[in-house]
Amino acid sequence: MHILLLGSGGREHALALALSKSPLLTRLFIAPGNPGTAPLGENVVLDVADHAAVVAFCHVMKIDFVVVGPEAPLVDGIVDSLRQNNILAFGPDKAAAQLEGSKGFTKDLCRDFHIPTADYQRFSDKAGALGFVRRKGAPIVVKADGLAAGKGVVVAATVSEAVEAIEMIFAGAFGAAGAEVVIEDFLDGEEVSFFALCDGTRALALASAQDHKRVGDGDTGPNTGGMGAYSPAPIMSEAMSARVMREIIEPTVAGMKARGTPFRGILFAGLMIGRDGPKLIEYNVRFGDPECQVMTLRLQDDLLALLLASAKGDLPEAPVHLKPQTALTVVMAAENYPGTPKKGTQIKGVEQAAAEPDVVIFHAGTKLEDGKLIANGGRVLNVTALGQNAAEAQAKAYRAVDRIDWPGGFCRRDIGWRAIS
Ligand code: AMP
Ligand code: GLY
Repeated sequence: MHILLLGSGGREHALALALSKSPLLTRLFIAPGNPGTAPLGENVVLDVADHAAVVAFCHVMKIDFVVVGPEAPLVDGIVDSLRQNNILAFGPDKAAAQLEGSKGFTKDLCRDFHIPTADYQRFSDKAGALGFVRRKGAPIVVKADGLAAGKGVVVAATVSEAVEAIEMIFAGAFGAAGAEVVIEDFLDGEEVSFFALCDGTRALALASAQDHKRVGDGDTGPNTGGMGAYSPAPIMSEAMSARVMREIIEPTVAGMKARGTPFRGILFAGLMIGRDGPKLIEYNVRFGDPECQVMTLRLQDDLLALLLASAKGDLPEAPVHLKPQTALTVVMAAENYPGTPKKGTQIKGVEQAAAEPDVVIFHAGTKLEDGKLIANGGRVLNVTALGQNAAEAQAKAYRAVDRIDWPGGFCRRDIGWRAIS
Protein backbone atom coordinates (compact mmCIF):
# COMPACT_ATOMS: atom_id res chain seq x y z
CA MET A 1 0.00 0.00 0.00
CA HIS A 2 1.01 3.59 -0.60
CA ILE A 3 0.56 5.63 2.57
CA LEU A 4 0.63 9.39 3.08
CA LEU A 5 1.23 10.58 6.65
CA LEU A 6 0.47 14.23 7.42
CA GLY A 7 2.46 16.12 10.06
CA SER A 8 5.98 16.98 11.15
CA GLY A 9 6.38 16.38 14.89
CA GLY A 10 7.73 13.69 17.16
CA ARG A 11 4.30 12.07 16.98
CA GLU A 12 4.61 11.72 13.23
CA HIS A 13 8.15 10.35 13.50
CA ALA A 14 6.82 7.69 15.88
CA LEU A 15 3.87 6.94 13.57
CA ALA A 16 6.21 6.75 10.57
CA LEU A 17 8.46 4.28 12.42
CA ALA A 18 5.53 2.04 13.36
CA LEU A 19 3.97 2.24 9.87
CA SER A 20 7.31 1.48 8.24
CA LYS A 21 7.36 -1.93 9.97
CA SER A 22 4.04 -3.00 8.48
CA PRO A 23 4.08 -5.82 5.92
CA LEU A 24 1.18 -4.00 4.22
CA LEU A 25 3.34 -0.99 3.38
CA THR A 26 5.09 -0.57 0.07
CA ARG A 27 5.67 3.18 -0.03
CA LEU A 28 5.48 5.81 2.73
CA PHE A 29 5.27 9.55 2.12
CA ILE A 30 5.38 12.06 4.97
CA ALA A 31 4.21 15.64 4.44
CA PRO A 32 6.15 17.57 5.48
CA GLY A 33 7.94 15.18 7.84
CA ASN A 34 11.25 15.99 9.52
CA PRO A 35 14.86 14.73 9.45
CA GLY A 36 13.80 11.74 11.57
CA THR A 37 11.13 10.59 9.10
CA ALA A 38 13.35 11.03 6.03
CA PRO A 39 15.09 7.62 6.33
CA LEU A 40 11.71 5.88 6.87
CA GLY A 41 10.01 7.13 3.72
CA GLU A 42 9.89 10.11 1.42
CA ASN A 43 9.39 13.56 2.93
CA VAL A 44 7.30 15.72 0.61
CA VAL A 45 6.45 19.39 0.55
CA LEU A 46 2.66 19.77 0.62
CA ASP A 47 0.47 22.52 2.04
CA VAL A 48 -1.87 20.45 4.21
CA ALA A 49 -4.32 23.37 4.44
CA ASP A 50 -4.73 23.14 0.64
CA HIS A 51 -7.06 20.16 0.44
CA ALA A 52 -7.11 20.16 -3.36
CA ALA A 53 -3.31 19.88 -3.38
CA VAL A 54 -3.41 16.95 -0.96
CA VAL A 55 -6.07 15.18 -3.05
CA ALA A 56 -4.08 15.81 -6.24
CA PHE A 57 -0.94 14.38 -4.64
CA CYS A 58 -2.88 11.28 -3.58
CA HIS A 59 -4.08 10.75 -7.13
CA VAL A 60 -0.65 11.19 -8.70
CA MET A 61 1.12 8.95 -6.18
CA LYS A 62 -1.74 6.40 -6.04
CA ILE A 63 -2.10 6.81 -2.29
CA ASP A 64 -4.28 4.10 -0.76
CA PHE A 65 -4.53 5.51 2.74
CA VAL A 66 -3.87 8.85 4.43
CA VAL A 67 -2.98 9.04 8.13
CA VAL A 68 -3.56 12.46 9.67
CA GLY A 69 -1.35 13.32 12.66
CA PRO A 70 -2.36 16.74 14.02
CA GLU A 71 -5.78 18.12 14.97
CA ALA A 72 -5.90 21.27 12.83
CA PRO A 73 -6.41 19.50 9.46
CA LEU A 74 -8.99 17.17 11.05
CA VAL A 75 -11.03 20.04 12.47
CA ASP A 76 -10.62 21.72 9.07
CA GLY A 77 -12.24 18.73 7.32
CA ILE A 78 -9.30 17.15 5.49
CA VAL A 79 -10.84 13.69 5.96
CA ASP A 80 -14.11 14.89 4.36
CA SER A 81 -12.17 16.22 1.36
CA LEU A 82 -10.30 12.94 0.99
CA ARG A 83 -13.36 10.72 1.39
CA GLN A 84 -15.30 12.81 -1.14
CA ASN A 85 -12.53 11.86 -3.57
CA ASN A 86 -12.67 8.18 -2.63
CA ILE A 87 -9.42 8.30 -0.69
CA LEU A 88 -9.46 6.34 2.56
CA ALA A 89 -8.19 8.29 5.58
CA PHE A 90 -7.52 7.67 9.25
CA GLY A 91 -9.15 10.17 11.56
CA PRO A 92 -12.55 11.76 12.12
CA ASP A 93 -14.43 13.87 9.62
CA LYS A 94 -15.11 17.51 10.39
CA ALA A 95 -18.37 16.83 12.23
CA ALA A 96 -16.80 14.22 14.52
CA ALA A 97 -13.64 16.30 15.04
CA GLN A 98 -15.87 18.73 16.96
CA LEU A 99 -15.07 16.53 19.95
CA GLU A 100 -11.76 18.39 20.02
CA GLY A 101 -12.77 21.48 18.04
CA SER A 102 -15.48 22.62 20.45
CA LYS A 103 -15.40 22.09 24.20
CA GLY A 104 -19.08 23.08 24.40
CA PHE A 105 -19.97 20.39 21.85
CA THR A 106 -18.26 17.73 23.97
CA LYS A 107 -19.86 18.94 27.21
CA ASP A 108 -23.33 18.81 25.62
CA LEU A 109 -22.63 15.28 24.38
CA CYS A 110 -21.63 14.27 27.92
CA ARG A 111 -24.85 15.77 29.27
CA ASP A 112 -27.02 14.04 26.64
CA PHE A 113 -25.41 10.61 27.04
CA HIS A 114 -24.69 10.63 30.80
CA ILE A 115 -20.90 10.64 30.47
CA PRO A 116 -19.25 11.69 33.75
CA THR A 117 -17.63 15.14 33.47
CA ALA A 118 -17.46 18.38 35.48
CA ASP A 119 -20.74 20.35 35.70
CA TYR A 120 -20.62 23.28 33.31
CA GLN A 121 -22.33 26.17 31.57
CA ARG A 122 -21.68 27.64 28.10
CA PHE A 123 -21.64 31.41 27.54
CA SER A 124 -21.36 33.50 24.40
CA ASP A 125 -21.71 36.77 26.31
CA LYS A 126 -19.18 38.19 28.73
CA ALA A 127 -21.71 39.55 31.21
CA GLY A 128 -23.37 36.16 31.63
CA ALA A 129 -19.99 34.45 32.15
CA LEU A 130 -18.87 37.04 34.71
CA GLY A 131 -22.14 36.80 36.63
CA PHE A 132 -21.84 33.01 36.71
CA VAL A 133 -18.32 32.86 38.16
CA ARG A 134 -19.21 35.52 40.75
CA ARG A 135 -22.15 33.39 41.86
CA LYS A 136 -20.24 30.07 41.79
CA GLY A 137 -16.98 31.19 43.38
CA ALA A 138 -13.55 29.57 43.02
CA PRO A 139 -11.78 27.30 42.28
CA ILE A 140 -13.36 27.24 38.86
CA VAL A 141 -12.19 26.48 35.32
CA VAL A 142 -12.62 28.83 32.35
CA LYS A 143 -12.13 27.49 28.80
CA ALA A 144 -12.21 29.09 25.37
CA ASP A 145 -14.56 26.93 23.29
CA GLY A 146 -12.37 26.33 20.23
CA LEU A 147 -8.83 25.22 19.38
CA ALA A 148 -6.31 27.38 21.22
CA ALA A 149 -3.14 25.29 20.96
CA GLY A 150 -3.54 24.07 24.53
CA LYS A 151 -3.54 27.61 25.92
CA GLY A 152 -7.28 28.27 26.15
CA VAL A 153 -7.82 26.82 29.63
CA VAL A 154 -7.45 28.71 32.90
CA VAL A 155 -7.77 26.80 36.16
CA ALA A 156 -8.67 29.76 38.37
CA ALA A 157 -7.88 29.53 42.07
CA THR A 158 -9.72 32.79 42.76
CA VAL A 159 -12.74 34.61 41.32
CA SER A 160 -10.52 37.46 40.17
CA GLU A 161 -8.36 35.04 38.15
CA ALA A 162 -11.53 33.67 36.56
CA VAL A 163 -12.75 37.20 35.79
CA GLU A 164 -9.38 38.01 34.21
CA ALA A 165 -9.57 34.84 32.06
CA ILE A 166 -13.08 35.71 30.85
CA GLU A 167 -12.01 39.28 30.03
CA MET A 168 -8.98 37.96 28.13
CA ILE A 169 -10.96 35.41 26.11
CA PHE A 170 -13.75 37.82 25.16
CA ALA A 171 -11.12 40.47 24.29
CA GLY A 172 -10.07 38.08 21.50
CA ALA A 173 -6.92 36.46 22.93
CA PHE A 174 -7.81 33.25 21.03
CA GLY A 175 -9.64 34.78 18.08
CA ALA A 176 -12.71 32.87 16.95
CA ALA A 177 -11.88 30.05 19.39
CA GLY A 178 -12.90 32.43 22.19
CA ALA A 179 -16.26 33.55 20.83
CA GLU A 180 -17.76 31.26 23.43
CA VAL A 181 -16.55 30.00 26.81
CA VAL A 182 -17.23 26.93 28.87
CA ILE A 183 -17.10 27.40 32.62
CA GLU A 184 -16.90 24.26 34.71
CA ASP A 185 -16.34 22.91 38.18
CA PHE A 186 -12.80 22.24 39.30
CA LEU A 187 -12.05 18.50 39.45
CA ASP A 188 -9.72 17.04 42.00
CA GLY A 189 -7.72 13.87 41.43
CA GLU A 190 -5.00 12.36 39.29
CA GLU A 191 -4.87 13.23 35.62
CA VAL A 192 -4.33 10.51 33.05
CA SER A 193 -4.68 10.06 29.30
CA PHE A 194 -6.49 7.13 27.77
CA PHE A 195 -6.51 6.18 24.10
CA ALA A 196 -9.03 4.09 22.18
CA LEU A 197 -9.31 3.35 18.49
CA CYS A 198 -12.84 3.82 17.15
CA ASP A 199 -14.47 2.72 13.91
CA GLY A 200 -17.74 4.62 14.06
CA THR A 201 -19.54 1.84 15.92
CA ARG A 202 -17.01 0.19 18.22
CA ALA A 203 -14.04 1.16 20.34
CA LEU A 204 -10.88 -0.79 21.09
CA ALA A 205 -8.78 0.21 24.09
CA LEU A 206 -5.22 1.03 23.07
CA ALA A 207 -3.21 2.26 26.06
CA SER A 208 -2.91 4.76 28.88
CA ALA A 209 -0.24 7.39 29.37
CA GLN A 210 0.67 10.32 31.57
CA ASP A 211 2.03 13.59 30.27
CA HIS A 212 3.96 16.40 31.99
CA LYS A 213 2.40 19.66 30.86
CA ARG A 214 4.42 22.20 32.84
CA VAL A 215 7.80 23.30 31.57
CA GLY A 216 9.70 22.94 34.84
CA ASP A 217 10.73 20.21 37.28
CA GLY A 218 8.19 19.57 40.02
CA ASP A 219 5.37 20.59 37.61
CA THR A 220 6.20 24.29 37.79
CA GLY A 221 6.14 27.10 35.24
CA PRO A 222 3.89 27.63 32.24
CA ASN A 223 2.01 24.93 30.34
CA THR A 224 3.56 23.38 27.24
CA GLY A 225 2.50 20.87 24.61
CA GLY A 226 4.05 18.22 26.88
CA MET A 227 7.57 17.82 28.26
CA GLY A 228 7.59 14.05 28.58
CA ALA A 229 5.32 11.05 29.00
CA TYR A 230 5.21 7.41 29.89
CA SER A 231 2.94 4.47 29.23
CA PRO A 232 1.27 2.68 30.93
CA ALA A 233 0.01 4.94 33.71
CA PRO A 234 0.07 2.91 36.95
CA ILE A 235 -3.29 4.35 38.05
CA MET A 236 -4.98 2.74 35.04
CA SER A 237 -5.45 -0.77 36.35
CA GLU A 238 -7.32 -3.22 34.15
CA ALA A 239 -10.44 -2.58 36.20
CA MET A 240 -10.12 1.20 35.79
CA SER A 241 -9.51 0.85 32.04
CA ALA A 242 -12.62 -1.30 31.73
CA ARG A 243 -14.60 1.30 33.68
CA VAL A 244 -13.36 4.12 31.44
CA MET A 245 -14.35 2.11 28.36
CA ARG A 246 -17.81 1.37 29.77
CA GLU A 247 -18.64 4.75 31.34
CA ILE A 248 -16.88 7.19 29.00
CA ILE A 249 -15.55 5.83 25.70
CA GLU A 250 -18.38 3.49 24.69
CA PRO A 251 -21.18 5.99 25.46
CA THR A 252 -19.26 8.58 23.43
CA VAL A 253 -19.00 6.30 20.41
CA ALA A 254 -22.68 5.34 20.75
CA GLY A 255 -23.72 8.97 21.23
CA MET A 256 -21.78 10.20 18.22
CA LYS A 257 -23.31 7.46 16.09
CA ALA A 258 -26.81 8.20 17.37
CA ARG A 259 -26.37 11.87 16.48
CA GLY A 260 -25.40 10.94 12.92
CA THR A 261 -21.76 11.95 13.37
CA PRO A 262 -19.98 8.63 13.94
CA PHE A 263 -16.44 8.91 15.27
CA ARG A 264 -13.64 7.11 13.45
CA GLY A 265 -10.05 7.53 14.49
CA ILE A 266 -8.25 7.68 17.80
CA LEU A 267 -10.11 9.07 20.77
CA PHE A 268 -7.71 10.62 23.26
CA ALA A 269 -9.53 11.10 26.56
CA GLY A 270 -8.03 13.45 29.13
CA LEU A 271 -9.37 12.07 32.41
CA MET A 272 -9.40 13.01 36.06
CA ILE A 273 -9.46 9.99 38.32
CA GLY A 274 -11.08 11.22 41.52
CA ARG A 275 -12.68 9.68 44.58
CA ASP A 276 -15.89 8.85 42.75
CA GLY A 277 -14.20 7.43 39.66
CA PRO A 278 -13.09 8.71 36.27
CA LYS A 279 -14.41 11.94 34.77
CA LEU A 280 -13.77 13.32 31.31
CA ILE A 281 -11.78 16.56 31.21
CA GLU A 282 -11.59 16.80 27.45
CA TYR A 283 -11.28 14.86 24.23
CA ASN A 284 -8.65 15.13 21.55
CA VAL A 285 -9.25 13.44 18.22
CA ARG A 286 -5.67 12.48 17.37
CA PHE A 287 -2.71 10.82 19.01
CA GLY A 288 -1.07 12.79 21.80
CA ASP A 289 2.38 14.24 21.30
CA PRO A 290 4.50 12.93 23.10
CA GLU A 291 2.08 10.18 24.28
CA CYS A 292 2.14 8.59 20.81
CA GLN A 293 5.89 8.10 21.03
CA VAL A 294 5.60 5.94 24.15
CA MET A 295 2.48 4.02 23.09
CA THR A 296 3.75 3.03 19.67
CA LEU A 297 6.98 1.78 21.22
CA ARG A 298 4.89 -0.66 23.30
CA LEU A 299 2.61 -1.75 20.48
CA GLN A 300 3.22 -5.29 19.24
CA ASP A 301 0.46 -5.37 16.62
CA ASP A 302 0.65 -3.90 13.14
CA LEU A 303 -0.28 -0.23 13.56
CA LEU A 304 -1.18 0.16 9.90
CA ALA A 305 -3.66 -2.74 10.08
CA LEU A 306 -5.30 -1.18 13.14
CA LEU A 307 -5.56 2.29 11.59
CA LEU A 308 -7.01 0.79 8.40
CA ALA A 309 -9.59 -1.15 10.41
CA SER A 310 -10.61 2.04 12.20
CA ALA A 311 -11.10 3.86 8.90
CA LYS A 312 -12.97 0.98 7.27
CA GLY A 313 -15.28 0.32 10.23
CA ASP A 314 -14.03 -3.16 11.06
CA LEU A 315 -11.90 -3.00 14.18
CA PRO A 316 -10.99 -6.45 15.51
CA GLU A 317 -12.73 -7.84 18.59
CA ALA A 318 -9.47 -9.08 20.09
CA PRO A 319 -7.58 -6.74 22.41
CA VAL A 320 -4.40 -5.10 21.11
CA HIS A 321 -1.09 -6.58 22.19
CA LEU A 322 1.25 -4.30 24.10
CA LYS A 323 4.66 -4.98 25.55
CA PRO A 324 4.34 -5.18 29.33
CA GLN A 325 7.31 -2.85 29.74
CA THR A 326 7.09 0.87 30.45
CA ALA A 327 8.06 3.32 27.74
CA LEU A 328 9.15 6.78 28.82
CA THR A 329 10.07 9.80 26.74
CA VAL A 330 11.92 12.96 27.70
CA VAL A 331 11.27 16.00 25.53
CA MET A 332 14.31 18.13 24.77
CA ALA A 333 13.24 21.67 23.96
CA ALA A 334 14.99 24.76 22.66
CA GLU A 335 15.91 27.45 25.14
CA ASN A 336 13.02 29.76 26.03
CA TYR A 337 10.28 27.27 25.08
CA PRO A 338 7.26 27.60 25.57
CA GLY A 339 7.97 31.26 24.82
CA THR A 340 9.58 32.04 21.45
CA PRO A 341 12.17 29.25 21.20
CA LYS A 342 15.74 29.99 20.22
CA LYS A 343 16.23 28.42 16.78
CA GLY A 344 19.39 27.66 14.85
CA THR A 345 21.57 26.04 17.53
CA GLN A 346 23.50 22.89 16.62
CA ILE A 347 22.76 19.49 18.19
CA LYS A 348 25.47 16.82 18.39
CA GLY A 349 25.64 13.30 19.72
CA VAL A 350 22.18 12.09 18.68
CA GLU A 351 23.57 8.96 17.00
CA GLN A 352 25.61 8.01 20.07
CA ALA A 353 22.56 8.58 22.29
CA ALA A 354 20.36 6.48 20.02
CA ALA A 355 22.89 3.63 20.27
CA GLU A 356 22.13 3.25 23.99
CA PRO A 357 20.20 0.01 24.68
CA ASP A 358 16.39 0.16 24.28
CA VAL A 359 16.49 3.82 23.25
CA VAL A 360 14.77 5.46 20.29
CA ILE A 361 15.13 9.16 19.55
CA PHE A 362 12.31 10.87 17.74
CA HIS A 363 12.78 14.16 15.94
CA ALA A 364 10.31 17.03 16.20
CA GLY A 365 11.58 20.58 15.54
CA THR A 366 14.86 19.71 13.82
CA LYS A 367 16.32 20.41 10.41
CA LEU A 368 19.44 19.33 8.57
CA GLU A 369 21.73 22.04 7.25
CA ASP A 370 24.95 21.03 5.47
CA GLY A 371 24.82 17.71 7.26
CA LYS A 372 24.45 19.36 10.67
CA LEU A 373 21.42 18.84 12.90
CA ILE A 374 19.90 22.19 13.85
CA ALA A 375 17.14 23.10 16.32
CA ASN A 376 14.20 24.50 14.40
CA GLY A 377 11.26 24.62 16.81
CA GLY A 378 10.13 24.52 20.42
CA ARG A 379 10.04 20.82 21.19
CA VAL A 380 13.01 19.41 19.31
CA LEU A 381 13.83 15.80 20.28
CA ASN A 382 12.03 13.04 22.19
CA VAL A 383 14.49 10.72 23.89
CA THR A 384 12.50 7.54 24.47
CA ALA A 385 13.37 4.31 26.27
CA LEU A 386 11.78 0.98 27.21
CA GLY A 387 12.40 -0.52 30.64
CA GLN A 388 11.04 -3.22 32.93
CA ASN A 389 9.42 -0.45 34.95
CA ALA A 390 9.22 3.35 34.97
CA ALA A 391 12.42 3.74 37.01
CA GLU A 392 14.44 1.65 34.56
CA ALA A 393 12.96 3.39 31.54
CA GLN A 394 13.71 6.74 33.14
CA ALA A 395 17.33 5.81 33.88
CA LYS A 396 17.85 4.61 30.29
CA ALA A 397 16.25 7.70 28.80
CA TYR A 398 18.35 10.12 30.85
CA ARG A 399 21.53 8.16 30.11
CA ALA A 400 20.79 8.84 26.43
CA VAL A 401 19.86 12.47 27.10
CA ASP A 402 23.25 12.95 28.74
CA ARG A 403 25.02 11.79 25.57
CA ILE A 404 23.41 14.59 23.58
CA ASP A 405 25.58 17.66 23.24
CA TRP A 406 23.22 20.60 22.82
CA PRO A 407 23.98 23.72 24.84
CA GLY A 408 20.96 25.46 23.27
CA GLY A 409 18.45 22.97 24.67
CA PHE A 410 16.99 21.81 27.96
CA CYS A 411 14.73 19.14 29.40
CA ARG A 412 12.95 18.31 32.63
CA ARG A 413 14.95 15.96 34.86
CA ASP A 414 11.96 14.40 36.62
CA ILE A 415 9.87 12.80 33.88
CA GLY A 416 8.08 9.81 35.36
CA TRP A 417 8.22 10.95 39.00
CA ARG A 418 4.61 10.04 39.68
CA ALA A 419 4.96 6.50 38.32
CA ILE A 420 8.18 5.95 40.24
CA SER A 421 7.10 7.36 43.62
P1 AMP B 1 -7.83 20.83 28.68
O1 AMP B 1 -7.22 21.60 27.54
O2 AMP B 1 -9.32 20.90 28.73
O3 AMP B 1 -7.25 19.44 28.82
O4 AMP B 1 -7.30 21.54 29.99
C1 AMP B 1 -5.93 21.74 30.21
C2 AMP B 1 -5.59 21.32 31.59
O5 AMP B 1 -6.33 22.07 32.55
C3 AMP B 1 -5.95 19.87 31.88
O6 AMP B 1 -4.97 19.00 31.44
C4 AMP B 1 -6.09 19.90 33.39
O7 AMP B 1 -4.83 19.83 34.02
C5 AMP B 1 -6.68 21.25 33.64
N1 AMP B 1 -8.14 21.18 33.75
C6 AMP B 1 -9.03 21.32 32.74
N2 AMP B 1 -10.29 21.20 33.20
C7 AMP B 1 -10.20 20.98 34.53
C8 AMP B 1 -11.15 20.79 35.58
N3 AMP B 1 -12.47 20.82 35.35
N4 AMP B 1 -10.68 20.62 36.83
C9 AMP B 1 -9.36 20.62 37.09
N5 AMP B 1 -8.41 20.80 36.15
C10 AMP B 1 -8.81 20.99 34.88
N1 GLY C 1 0.58 16.04 24.98
C1 GLY C 1 -0.73 16.54 24.95
C2 GLY C 1 -1.35 16.60 23.62
O1 GLY C 1 -0.89 16.03 22.65
O2 GLY C 1 -2.37 17.25 23.51
